[in-house]
Amino acid sequence: MDTTFKHTSVETSTGPVASEPTTLGTDLEQEVGETVGDAFVDDPRMKARNVDVFYADKQAIHNVSLDIGRNEVLSMIGPSGCGKSTFLRSINRMNDTIDICKVTGSITLDGEDIYDRSMDVVSLRARVGMVFQKPNPFPKSIYDNIAYGPRIHGLVERRAELDEVVETSLRKAGLWEEVKDRLDQPATGLSGGQQQRLCIARTIAISPEVILMDEPCSALDPIATARIEELIAELSENYTIAIVTHSMQQAARVSDRTAYFHLGKLIEVGATDKIFTSPDHKLTEDYITGRFG
Ligand SMILES: Nc1ncnc2c1ncn2[C@@H]1O[C@H](COP(=O)(O)OP(=O)(O)OP(=O)(O)O)[C@@H](O)[C@H]1O
Ligand SMILES: [Mg+2]
Repeated sequence: MDTTFKHTSVETSTGPVASEPTTLGTDLEQEVGETVGDAFVDDPRMKARNVDVFYADKQAIHNVSLDIGRNEVLSMIGPSGCGKSTFLRSINRMNDTIDICKVTGSITLDGEDIYDRSMDVVSLRARVGMVFQKPNPFPKSIYDNIAYGPRIHGLVERRAELDEVVETSLRKAGLWEEVKDRLDQPATGLSGGQQQRLCIARTIAISPEVILMDEPCSALDPIATARIEELIAELSENYTIAIVTHSMQQAARVSDRTAYFHLGKLIEVGATDKIFTSPDHKLTEDYITGRFG
């Protein structure tokens, strides 16, 4: 994707913390209102409507409504503490694992309410897979890391089928050539970039519809990062992808649409090149030009 955006100073997660609105000044605070831009798309895979998320009494997400389109890559950006991970986790109910966390509003996957009592959370997380900031391979062999999901979800019956799923998933994640001769060795012996591609392969192995990624490259060097970015581009042909990133260059490179969060609110969403070249909201502009965050 071509963009004239050249800003380089906001590559860090050490910016002001969102729970300190005083750093904004009164004028800017007044500008935080409804989301501007295109929060909705014609062909949504997932729809969030009026989502609030609380940790005990503290509200971390305020009234967010946003679609994620089929076969689109959506990136989510914003200062540290603005709620990106919280919102991402609400999309596959990972927040359920945090006792004090409560989510209200509605989130649907292909029209189905993911918070409905009839929704099976294990199968939801297979349909909406997640890749984390720090690669987290299981303490098992490379083969078993990939085979684990298809086995527990009963997706394959025979060993030959499982072998095929393992190979296909590793190929799609661009890791097969590097590991095909050491499939029985521990996954923890792989490099960080290889481990992250293994985790992506593990996610793909259970044929998700949506892949969520929370800063998947923040622990990787530029070469491993470039490999993951290529992979995101390839995967976007078949999957819906939502990625949280602190690198605006990365958001500009990999995503079709970009959502800018600020203090738990979704400030602006739009085509990535528009967000990075001519955003409509002053807060978005301040962030992308490095005046805030
Ligand atoms: N498990 C938790 N318990 C209590 N508060 C939490 C928890 N996780 C996040 N928060 C709070 O919710 C707010 C949003 O946090 P979140 O981690 O979603 O931000 P983020 O945008 O992902 O930040 P970063 O860029 O640093 O990863 C913050 O104020 C944070 O302190
Ligand atoms: Mg986060």
